[in-house]
Amino acid sequence: MTKPFHLAWFLSQGYGPKSWRSQWPGSDLGRWMMPDIFVDLARGMERACMDYMIIEDSSMVPYTYKGSHDVYLKYAASTPKLDPAVLVSYLAQATSRLGLVPTLSTSEYPPYLMARLVNTLDHVTEGRIGWNCVTGSNDGAAENYGHVGQRPHDERYDVADEFADVVTRLWEAWEPDAVVLDREKPMFADGSKVHPINHAGKYFKVRGPLNAPRSPQGRVPICQAGGSPRGQDFASKWADTIITNAVTVEGMKTFREDVRRRAVTHGRDPDTIKVLFLAYPIVDTTMEAARDRRRLQQEDSGRHLDLQLSGMSRLTNIDFSKFPLDEPLPELSTNGHQSSLAKWIGKTPRSLAEGSNSRQGVDLVGTADQVAGLMQDIMQEVGGDGFLLFNAYFDRRYIMEVCDGLVPELQRRGLTRKAYAHKHFRDNLLEF
Ligand SMILES: Cc1cc2nc3c(=O)[nH]c(=O)nc-3n(C[C@H](O)[C@H](O)[C@H](O)COP(=O)(O)O)c2cc1C
Repeated sequence: MTKPFHLAWFLSQGYGPKSWRSQWPGSDLGRWMMPDIFVDLARGMERACMDYMIIEDSSMVPYTYKGSHDVYLKYAASTPKLDPAVLVSYLAQATSRLGLVPTLSTSEYPPYLMARLVNTLDHVTEGRIGWNCVTGSNDGAAENYGHVGQRPHDERYDVADEFADVVTRLWEAWEPDAVVLDREKPMFADGSKVHPINHAGKYFKVRGPLNAPRSPQGRVPICQAGGSPRGQDFASKWADTIITNAVTVEGMKTFREDVRRRAVTHGRDPDTIKVLFLAYPIVDTTMEAARDRRRLQQEDSGRHLDLQLSGMSRLTNIDFSKFPLDEPLPELSTNGHQSSLAKWIGKTPRSLAEGSNSRQGVDLVGTADQVAGLMQDIMQEVGGDGFLLFNAYFDRRYIMEVCDGLVPELQRRGLTRKAYAHKHFRDNLLEF
């Protein structure tokens, strides 16, 4: 018997076009900017009692591949993207328990503005917000915010450290009982229970307090995906849920043990951090049908190598059009995603591009019963804490296959929850 695990969904490529290349009827070709399909996904996830949806984000039209934005625009790859915080409001209206986690970058937001936005969202969702805390990595994004390029890799995490400290103190600047609502006195809020933070650090200067009361969760759950040693250290200090793209069971186990060990050095109980592993399930009525779909996808990746290579370029600021397709990549260094690049060295660009799905997450292919069995085996081996499902080009059929096909099988085995025990996102995350 495996202990229950958590399920979340990574809306990779963010609030942008999803199923526009799908053959499935009803794909939202011209209406990608409307929240409809994301609302359907959120409802499906809530039927399946999943923990949370992360809305990925970045804020630039990339030009890293061949020094041009053409390939990115051709495939709608990483662009266009609308603002995740706006989408959250629509998803919140359509659901009542699902955790909602917009991505907000510490290189792009001033901390006060971010603290205020997240506090507001936590109020209006009655305690269902999380924060995907990213540092940013692409130079093009930095250039949209007045910088010449991104800061050095490790320093970005130093900035994020100070940023997280400031926003969490702003979220807690009003004591829980600061709002009195006494009409007779009158006293709306008790001034002695609202505290400026008077922060003057290396990167930020913020007086505070926040101009709104503490939200239902106060310090909202933080999600983080740093994979380098500095990134893992940051994540194990601040995150309530860590997401990663380890692809082998051994890699998953090592990663989880590593961040849990680091958490202890920060004085934290590692059981309060849920490590979720990216996984891309393809579920069909027979194994043959599921394998067929995976094969078609791989063939598609093989036909559109520039799509995959441009994605790798975006993450690392390295132009992968410059390397011969069939020669192993030499030693390279990046100021972008260091942990991803480390996994690619020595492999050929073609093999990385063709295997893009399995490069990004655990490959799960089969019937609902078979995929549920695989997930059970993996979790038993790794020790916890769950999976972060993703599919960059999902459509409505896919939502149903996962939420109404795969998850009921996991529930039948007692592996995932059948009902939410709590109202707040954090409490559900900590349920098991
Ligand atoms: C599952 C997952 C989701 C991520 N989501 C985002 C995102 O939405 N926006 C972003 O700028 N970076 C995102 N990242 C990048 C991470 O925040 C981080 O920069 C990356 O993993 C590289 O970390 P490292 O340089 O410490 O290895 C994501 C990474 C992973 C693995």
